[in-house]
Amino acid sequence: MSHIESPDSITLIRPDDWHLHLRDGAAMASVLPHSARQFARAIVMPNLKPPVTTTALASAYRDRILAALPASMQFEPLMTLYLTDNTDPDEIRRAKDTGFIHAVKLYPAGATTNSAAGVTDLRKCYKTLEVMQEVDMPLLVHGEVTDHDIDLFDREAVFIERVMRPLRRDFPELKIVFEHITTRDAAQYVAEAEGPIAATITAHHLLHNRNAIFKGGINPHYYCLPVLKREEHRLALVTAATSGDERFFLGTDSAPHAVHTKEASCGCAGCYTALHAMELYAAAFDEAGALDKLEAFASLNGPNFYDLPVNTGTITLKRETWTVPPTVPMGEQELVPLHGGEQIGWKML
Ligand code: NCD
Ligand code: ZN
Repeated sequence: MSHIESPDSITLIRPDDWHLHLRDGAAMASVLPHSARQFARAIVMPNLKPPVTTTALASAYRDRILAALPASMQFEPLMTLYLTDNTDPDEIRRAKDTGFIHAVKLYPAGATTNSAAGVTDLRKCYKTLEVMQEVDMPLLVHGEVTDHDIDLFDREAVFIERVMRPLRRDFPELKIVFEHITTRDAAQYVAEAEGPIAATITAHHLLHNRNAIFKGGINPHYYCLPVLKREEHRLALVTAATSGDERFFLGTDSAPHAVHTKEASCGCAGCYTALHAMELYAAAFDEAGALDKLEAFASLNGPNFYDLPVNTGTITLKRETWTVPPTVPMGEQELVPLHGGEQIGWKML
């Protein structure tokens, strides 16, 4: 911890969110302004029903996002394709040519929400991955194995050995983002690996360990995938995010689910943080005495990795206590944001 007193306000270059779930239709129209207020751009996840598997679907989805954006707001959706066992290598060239599709997402089949159409065996995708490497199209990886004999808390570490190392050996020039990392194993792997690799880190994985899911009872709004891990892993993520290493950058993984689908006998995975993401990250960096490292993590390292310009304009965050609304609308329904009804100590002006 620094002996210099932490500032009461910070101004940053306008940040971006490098991993976001916007959903579609009325739900998307409700949550989109939250992200647009906080971020200039976001990498938009393709796990819709049906998934965004083609350039044509991504183009139509992008049009719907832009149509739903309030006229007073500026926000650029950076689109992604959902990789399947059958993604045509030519689809990658078409996607690259659009200029608005910036990555392809690998969901191991069955790993998370709407991943049933995901990849069953990465070897089936090798021709497609070759083209991605050739045209410089990043692969975004949900890094968990899905084997039921592997303990849920170990699935990220096992993924590194079983999938990530062979993949990177076979495609050493392919740009890869290890999405929403949750373990010391992943942070260390990314920090030390050779070649073009980076990782996103969520605010909830910086702020909480797995005790949050069980404190005083079962807390479904802290259940996400990959699931929160032990404190030693949270500390390793904080160290990585605040290290200044340009391989680590901001990705909220904000994942809206209607309240009744989370407060249920079999609740959905996902934390909603788009409403107050920068406030949550500021709290995490402040707790680590590293507010001076937030701008690189939130606003510089991502564009650098994706070869995109850094944003113009700034945002300002102030040390101020306010109460997160207990619920916010999600189409006809409502969702509970992370820390809903609780006080947090930073506020974006
Ligand atoms: C995400 C969702 O709901 O789409 N859920 C989550 O817990 N993060 C999917 C994902 O990114 O795994
Ligand atoms: Zn996600």
